[in-house]
Amino acid sequence: MDENIMHDIDNKMEYEEKLRPSFIKEYIGQDEVKDNLSVFIKAAKIRDESLDHTLLYGPPGLGKTTLAFIIANELGVNIKTASGPAIEKSGDLAAILSSLEPGDVLFIDEIHRIPRFIEEILYSAMEDFTLDIIIGSDGSSRSIKIDLPPFTLVGATTRVGDLSSPLRDRFGIISHLDYYSISDLTKIVKRTAKVFGVEIEEEAAIELAKRSRGTPRIANRLLKRVRDFAIVNNKDIIDLNETKDSLNRLKVDNDGLDETDHKLLKSIIYKFNGGPVGIDALASSIGEEKGSIEDVYEPYLLQNGYLKRTNRGRVVTEKAYNHLGISHQETLF
Ligand code: ADE
Repeated sequence: MDENIMHDIDNKMEYEEKLRPSFIKEYIGQDEVKDNLSVFIKAAKIRDESLDHTLLYGPPGLGKTTLAFIIANELGVNIKTASGPAIEKSGDLAAILSSLEPGDVLFIDEIHRIPRFIEEILYSAMEDFTLDIIIGSDGSSRSIKIDLPPFTLVGATTRVGDLSSPLRDRFGIISHLDYYSISDLTKIVKRTAKVFGVEIEEEAAIELAKRSRGTPRIANRLLKRVRDFAIVNNKDIIDLNETKDSLNRLKVDNDGLDETDHKLLKSIIYKFNGGPVGIDALASSIGEEKGSIEDVYEPYLLQNGYLKRTNRGRVVTEKAYNHLGISHQETLF
């Protein structure tokens, strides 16, 4: 491989690594979650035991994976990662569990997507650190028990309601991550700018924070794009004007709503008279996956009062009409 390319890859990996904080004290926001976790981690270390199984839930992009890596780092143990949708057979999970070393953190992202019949393997693994598996088939099958080392399962999910109660009940620590405040997001933007080695004015960082839907992943992505515009426009510092122009070009509005949010709200207004509309009809009308509407778009729109959920479906609010500059009357005919 070309040496420059290798160098670029190394740099990129270094970036991504530095972009994620490694310790709790570097992690900005989510104060309650952090404070509680710090206590539980300290106590586990004093007792020289593994940390209780921990469930992190909340909308995508808020730092659940980052926190799982921080937990392992603070405990001084290794982390192994897996993802719910990739676990298709009992054997997949059995293989992961039997590879664990004492004290390891096993991080399972999207844990709600593990099929129920496989999930049951986790119950005894979490409770007694044993792996119950059935070997052989039909007539000659038998169940064997394998001891596992003590470990900590850290599960992450955007949908805590989709978790079965036996699984949920086996987590000793359950933490909810919520959208970040503008002031915390501003700090994150400034920290990321430092990692990138670019200068950003305070007002520009605040503007980016305001338009990032309370989500660090979005703030960091938008900062990368604004940095692109600044580089091409020969600016050595990212200022407010550059930020506003770039975000407008990216079709991210003053409240952080993007083209898909606009399409979703306008579709309810124009095609369904403001609602109520069911999720299936809405998904097919805007050509988006039902799951990404439910997990990515809707939570922010609901939390910020653009959308309401009723038992007959989604309804847009007065705030949405005002925000989009659409009069209620205009759409009634
Ligand atoms: N990058 C992404 N999320 C972060 C957070 N919560 N704190 C610091 N840096 C971050």
